[in-house]
Amino acid sequence: MKSDLYSTLTEKINSGNFSSIFILVDENTEKYCLDIFLQKSKIESFNQINIPSGESNKNIESCISIWDQLNSFKADRKSLLINLGGGVLTDIGGFAASTYLRGISFINVPTTLLGMVDAAHGGKTGVDFKLLKNQIGVFNEPLEVLLDNEYLKTLSKEEYVNGYAEVVKHSLLTDKSALNFNSLVKLDLFKDSEDIINNYSQIKNEIVESDKYESNIRKVLNLGHTIGHAVESYSHISERITDLKHGEAIVIGMITELYISHKKLNFPIKDLLGIKEHLSKYFGQISFSESDIDQIYDLMIYDKKNSSNKINFVLLNEIGDPIVDQTVSSDIFKESFLFYNDLL
Ligand SMILES: NC(=O)c1ccc[n+]([C@@H]2O[C@H](COP(=O)([O-])OP(=O)(O)OC[C@H]3O[C@@H](n4cnc5c(N)ncnc54)[C@H](O)[C@@H]3O)[C@@H](O)[C@H]2O)c1
Repeated sequence: MKSDLYSTLTEKINSGNFSSIFILVDENTEKYCLDIFLQKSKIESFNQINIPSGESNKNIESCISIWDQLNSFKADRKSLLINLGGGVLTDIGGFAASTYLRGISFINVPTTLLGMVDAAHGGKTGVDFKLLKNQIGVFNEPLEVLLDNEYLKTLSKEEYVNGYAEVVKHSLLTDKSALNFNSLVKLDLFKDSEDIINNYSQIKNEIVESDKYESNIRKVLNLGHTIGHAVESYSHISERITDLKHGEAIVIGMITELYISHKKLNFPIKDLLGIKEHLSKYFGQISFSESDIDQIYDLMIYDKKNSSNKINFVLLNEIGDPIVDQTVSSDIFKESFLFYNDLL
């Protein structure tokens, strides 16, 4: 990545447009990322705001804490919030900034692979509410997203791999052969991080650019998320299944939704099996019981993307050819979990 990566950010900060600068961190990004950020951005005058890490803190209480801290530092409408962290932190920080005093500017500096390729881009901000993912939020674009893969050096291997789920998703959506899934598998996930971040975040940005408010084409980015979000929420309430990270749940969502694509749209079986096998190199397998599957189905009914009480899926005709607003019967839904569990 270029050495003048921070020059646009430094220029914006020194432009005189902002009355005060705030940097939002959690305990991990405070420890591992803040010094790097301060050294590279050359920001000297700022106030620090802390929230606790983790999906269980992606809630309105964290926003209240941010608003309280902004108040105590006398932030005003010309203040700027810099979100330094993973997808949880940029989602919360973006929402807190977008609603504070009817909206102050914010910049995202993602520090996880998942944040760099996906969460920090596109202006979806928000928090979870009553076990449902991202129920409360607004669309609001950050002023800038600064991508610096130096932050990845301190990220655990498990968290790094977690971000690969969204990379694979983007590779399944693109019709560019140099970037699609068959090209992605030729890259080294660990050595080629710079290419992966730049190329696969670009796929998302191009889709978002053509449909900022998700009235049509942007819905394709929900591939794997209709089932994946329900699986993720379910893992937080189930005593049988351990808490899943976002990427782990999205992998389950992608495999089941690609099986449904195969059944409904003839998505090629060879690709389906190849994708499942590739993902199994990086992600473990969960065994779902019949009762788990029923409860996941019930949770999915409440997914915010559904309209008229129907469950809308993104499916694939083939790699690079997604189709939105597909309805699926409960029978095929359940069958897709048998496929995931290697029972078909
Ligand atoms: N807004 C969107 O468009 C969008 C898209 C995809 C996902 N998301 C959201 O993103 C969230 C998941 O994000 P995530 O996977 O980045 O998880 P995360 O933000 O919870 O980060 C994972 C962990 O890594 C720590 N961490 C972050 N950077 C670090 C670093 N450089 N070194 C060491 N530790 C570090 C964090 O403190 C946290 O404990 C989910 O809530 C999901 O809903 C949002």
